Amino acid sequence: MADPLQTTPCTAAPLAGQVAVVTGAGGGIGRASCLRLSQAGAAVLALDLDAASAQETARLLQTQGGQALALAADVCDPALGAQVLTQALAHFGRLDILINNAGRGSAMRPLWEIELDDWQRDLTLNLSSQFYLCKALVPHMVAAGYGRIVNVASAAGMEGHPLSGGYAAAKAGVIAMTKTLGKELATQGVIVNAIAPALIDSPMLHSEWFSAELKQQLLDRIPMRRAGQPEEVAEMVLFLASPAVSFSTGAVFDLSGGRATY
Ligand SMILES: NC(=O)c1ccc[n+]([C@@H]2O[C@H](COP(=O)([O-])OP(=O)(O)OC[C@H]3O[C@@H](n4cnc5c(N)ncnc54)[C@H](O)[C@@H]3O)[C@@H](O)[C@H]2O)c1
Repeated sequence: MADPLQTTPCTAAPLAGQVAVVTGAGGGIGRASCLRLSQAGAAVLALDLDAASAQETARLLQTQGGQALALAADVCDPALGAQVLTQALAHFGRLDILINNAGRGSAMRPLWEIELDDWQRDLTLNLSSQFYLCKALVPHMVAAGYGRIVNVASAAGMEGHPLSGGYAAAKAGVIAMTKTLGKELATQGVIVNAIAPALIDSPMLHSEWFSAELKQQLLDRIPMRRAGQPEEVAEMVLFLASPAVSFSTGAVFDLSGGRATY
């Protein structure tokens, strides 16, 4: 088991020799995180529902001299975890880091008008998917005596999000799941944290989910008066995925330009 106190946090390649799986790897935060983890020395399994974007992420990493493998897969599949573990071990020989990032906003409507299917879809994609991968990969990390898990939540999970009740409820669930798992694994070398971004300038921000009015409303609530960049999120993902994080687990780290006051 790696002793976190024996590691050197500020090396140029703190993840050299390690392997990470990143879901939603073809999107804004996912791709930036893959790039940052790769620059830090990790081999990356870049997983996305969209095969072309996963491949493009893997290609970018390889162009920069990194090791990467694209995997086109749906995180809503409860059996995906076993496949991820098999692929990571077959191609890279190990798996140390899980970045549970894939997610998507829901149809904009008040809670009582949400269709049952949409509610279920929101919860499956934004919460259960992260549970499925934790369930499959944690035993491997525990056996290795080392692991880092970063679950991507949202400010919506901290504050609620009018007209996106399913999404907000799922992200609140991610936070509770992270706090629980972090406590359960606290003595086993496996560190689990969540990040809660507010408004990040990713493709999601330019999707139909974000009207110009909603974007402005959200910007108005950010003291820095701007959206965050995926690269800024990736920097925090790298820290939380690295041996440098050694005394924080089951915690939620905000990326909100000063909006979070809780
Ligand atoms: N952008 C923001 O303002 C913001 C704010 C808070 C939280 N987040 C969260 O950050 C995460 C990443 O979002 P982003 O902003 O990079 O969005 P994005 O739309 O750029 O990326 C999301 C990626 O997830 C992939 N994906 C969607 N469904 C999938 C599935 N079933 N299986 C596998 N992959 C799937 C998409 O193909 C896409 O590449 C999400 O969990 C999102 O909820 C984003």
